[in-house]
Amino acid sequence: MRDASDDGSYDLVLALGAGGLGDEGFTVAREGGTTTVTASGGRGLLYGLFHVVRLGEAAFTGAWALRTHRPALALRMLDHWDNVAVHPVMGQVERGYAGGSLFWDDGRARGDVERVRAYGRLLAACGINAVAVNNVNVHETEAHLLTDRIGEVALLADALRPYGIRTHLSVTFAAPVVLGGTATADPLDGAVRGWWSEATRRVYEAIPDFGGYVVKADSEGQPGPFAYGRSHADGANMLAAVLEPYGGTVHWRAFVYNHRQDWRDRTTDRARAAYDHFVPLDGAFAGNAVLQVKHGPMDFQVREPVSPLIGAMPRTRPAVELQVTQEYTGQQRHVCWLGPMWSEVLRFRPEDTSVGGLARGGLVAVSNVGDDPFWTGHPLAQANLYTFGRLAWRPDAEPGEVLDEWIGLTFPDAPARLADGLHAVLDGSWRSYEKYTAPLGVGFMVQPGHHYGPSVDGYEYSPWGTYHFADRDGIGVDRSVATGTGYAGQYGKPWSELYESPDTCPDELLLFFHHVPYGHVLKSGKTVIQHIYDTHFEGVEEVEEARAVWASLSGLMDPARHARVAERYEEQLRCAREWRDQVNSYFLRKSGVADARGRLIHL
Ligand code: GCU
Repeated sequence: MRDASDDGSYDLVLALGAGGLGDEGFTVAREGGTTTVTASGGRGLLYGLFHVVRLGEAAFTGAWALRTHRPALALRMLDHWDNVAVHPVMGQVERGYAGGSLFWDDGRARGDVERVRAYGRLLAACGINAVAVNNVNVHETEAHLLTDRIGEVALLADALRPYGIRTHLSVTFAAPVVLGGTATADPLDGAVRGWWSEATRRVYEAIPDFGGYVVKADSEGQPGPFAYGRSHADGANMLAAVLEPYGGTVHWRAFVYNHRQDWRDRTTDRARAAYDHFVPLDGAFAGNAVLQVKHGPMDFQVREPVSPLIGAMPRTRPAVELQVTQEYTGQQRHVCWLGPMWSEVLRFRPEDTSVGGLARGGLVAVSNVGDDPFWTGHPLAQANLYTFGRLAWRPDAEPGEVLDEWIGLTFPDAPARLADGLHAVLDGSWRSYEKYTAPLGVGFMVQPGHHYGPSVDGYEYSPWGTYHFADRDGIGVDRSVATGTGYAGQYGKPWSELYESPDTCPDELLLFFHHVPYGHVLKSGKTVIQHIYDTHFEGVEEVEEARAVWASLSGLMDPARHARVAERYEEQLRCAREWRDQVNSYFLRKSGVADARGRLIHL
């Protein structure tokens, strides 16, 4: 590579050879003017090459001793919630904010796979090595991808394979009924197992390195083993058994809860559901069955505690699921860089191991990419994609460093003013978003259905189990063991004790765990009501400041990119003000407590 001198020596050598690095590890060293990357196989070399790209000039400066790099997690996966056929309610990409699907167009796999190939390269540069190409809600058309339309999946797999990416498919648990003419999908029925076994054989015929199945079962109306009186381990293990001969994995999602709850019923707590369903099954799952657990107990809110299920199944391989697509965090119209949140999750220690260490089944995220020219709709949302991949490679990485890496790679040769400006607008954006939306971990308060923008009571009297219980005296959900739903008791110590009492519960999660009066004094010294007012004013001010920083960067980058972000800042600011005014007015009316600083709140 890059012949640098007259003596025939090379600046960069990529060499196959070193053993003991695994399939994806590599070493890199610089000596005598040559930088050498060594790996046991192609994937390792690929990651080594991208490592050199990240280092930039530093890769070719000075001399340094051999360094070894290996991913901490073997599976680093993106789940695309893409429909092949445009769904009448959910559109083409469910919760997608970056245009149509990269994979599916006009009801079939894209014939022109150049963009898919470019996507594969982008993902490899981030460190991602697996992709599920269709939505976890498997509708009729998409069910056929497993059988008569597997050739289309194979086309996508071929385009992604050169970048070290294995292709996975979301399947419906009812596939044998929907597609095969069996009367049942009972996982213990011999004919059902035979059907899956034959379907899987054909899948591997088409895609020899196929990764496996992703299954959303008995969840939000999807079919599952409960209909046959079977457990989720029965369901997962049947699929694991048919995948096992080929080295495939079943990713079984733990997002199982009652979505037809009666809001009058205070005994059911959606937050408890995943733990209650799955902990009794610990040890029952096959070795190639991974239990895919959302990082929080509810649903990708801007602030949730870490799911207690992640630390509670020592004999199961959990994968932790994040949401890169910003369903509840501004839908790629708002800048909300999630690196600090994910890092908190991955560093959280349910016991003496961190979540990053417990995620033996890998780190998975719902993709935020579509066919938009900027890939992610909001150009700055690319930082979330990159950060996810890098944290999956190294869960204990410093998110701020990853952010600067992304800035350096995306805006090469950026003057300091641009790099600093980008860092400034992204770095605190998650906390700004948290400030102007639902307070203190209580969650939701979004418009039902599409989940964009405020509606404080939008889900309050609904069947979805996502309540804040605000009344004239106070707000929050009592999840203590002593007087509430008992959810706090699902954690090991010290967390169960810490969360149990409002005195020790961290401020940012107070309303997730406790119902408290508006006058309750937080550790910050403020009352809950004053905290609500202050954070909502501050959140909007922070967006105003970020917008001004962005305006000052015009002329320092491609004008189209600058304009796209500028336009989205207008919408973010409009929406943040809407949140501020609705939330503050709502709580002023409920509580009757005036803002100590006498600011304008609309009664
Ligand atoms: C959320 C989201 C749905 C999605 C579901 C899931 O509830 O709103 O669109 O299907 O999560 O994770 O399965």
